[in-house]
Amino acid sequence: MIAVIGGVPVAAFANDWGMGASNSKIPPSSIYNPVSTPAHEINTVAFFVVAITGVIFLIVGGLLTYSIVRFRARPTDDTREPPQVYGSSPIEFAWTTVPVIIVLVLILITARTIYTVQAPARPPGALSVHVIAHQWWWEFRYPDLGVVTANELHVPLSDPKNPTPTFLDLESADVAHSFWVPRLAGKTDVIPNKKNTMWIDPHVSGTYLGQCGEYCGTEHAMMLIRVVVEPRADFDRWVAAQKQPPALDPSVVHGRQVFESTACVNCHTIQGTAANGRFGPDLTHLMTRETIGAGVAMNTPDHLKVWVNDPSVMKPGALMPAMNLDDKDLDDLVAYLVTLR
Ligand code: CUA
Repeated sequence: MIAVIGGVPVAAFANDWGMGASNSKIPPSSIYNPVSTPAHEINTVAFFVVAITGVIFLIVGGLLTYSIVRFRARPTDDTREPPQVYGSSPIEFAWTTVPVIIVLVLILITARTIYTVQAPARPPGALSVHVIAHQWWWEFRYPDLGVVTANELHVPLSDPKNPTPTFLDLESADVAHSFWVPRLAGKTDVIPNKKNTMWIDPHVSGTYLGQCGEYCGTEHAMMLIRVVVEPRADFDRWVAAQKQPPALDPSVVHGRQVFESTACVNCHTIQGTAANGRFGPDLTHLMTRETIGAGVAMNTPDHLKVWVNDPSVMKPGALMPAMNLDDKDLDDLVAYLVTLR
């Protein structure tokens, strides 16, 4: 199905909006390729449990196979029932203590992993981020830095010798969600009226993909996360840029008027304007984000135009309404949004 919306040809369900090409440059989000302590600990305990249970499987399966082959019925067998043995203290002692020891080892290693992953103490250098899950996007607020962004979390690289971890406090604005970036940490559920916490200390720079891990409604599958891990200097530059209000380009004054005079202002914030809504993402530095719609499309002027005109073309069920602007207003509004750097 090809439609033309705001002058842009749209193949609604056959278009990945540039995401495939972008994501193919990012390594897959495998739990077996951890780059942060919590994910690493979980990976280690998983392999340890598989190794122990694998050895048990080989011993039990091996003995079973040996017995089936070695003691199978033969034509020369005496068909009378052999003498039966009732009760053997050494055998019963062995099959009780060996499993108890194995289970004890599993309990201890699991407890140690849980203790590390849930480490309650925040070191002084730790960065705090307040994560608020919404249907169907992520709000990231940095309370100590005065920065607010959406869907793309920036955190500093953490040197294992001098760790600078990031601690996340997670809350929901509506229903249950789950924050999951497999290469950085396990899932943490985000529950209404409850604050959960988790932490990450990425050891390798790069972009890591994640997504909501708990069914939360129509667009659960398109509630994507990007975590951008940068060396400290780059992170500090990003923070400084986010704190600057965007400069108003005089050529887009009409677009800004369109923004301020429509329903946009009820749901979105743009610093320095009348818009201070919290229902949708903060747009103050919209163009510093790579994607729009919580990762459904690359953030380009053409895609913005399709999105603003009718978000459901890209993300059916999205809670943002179609703005139904005329072509001139739509063009001017998008021209204004594109200046939000
Ligand atoms: Cu949010 Cu699934």
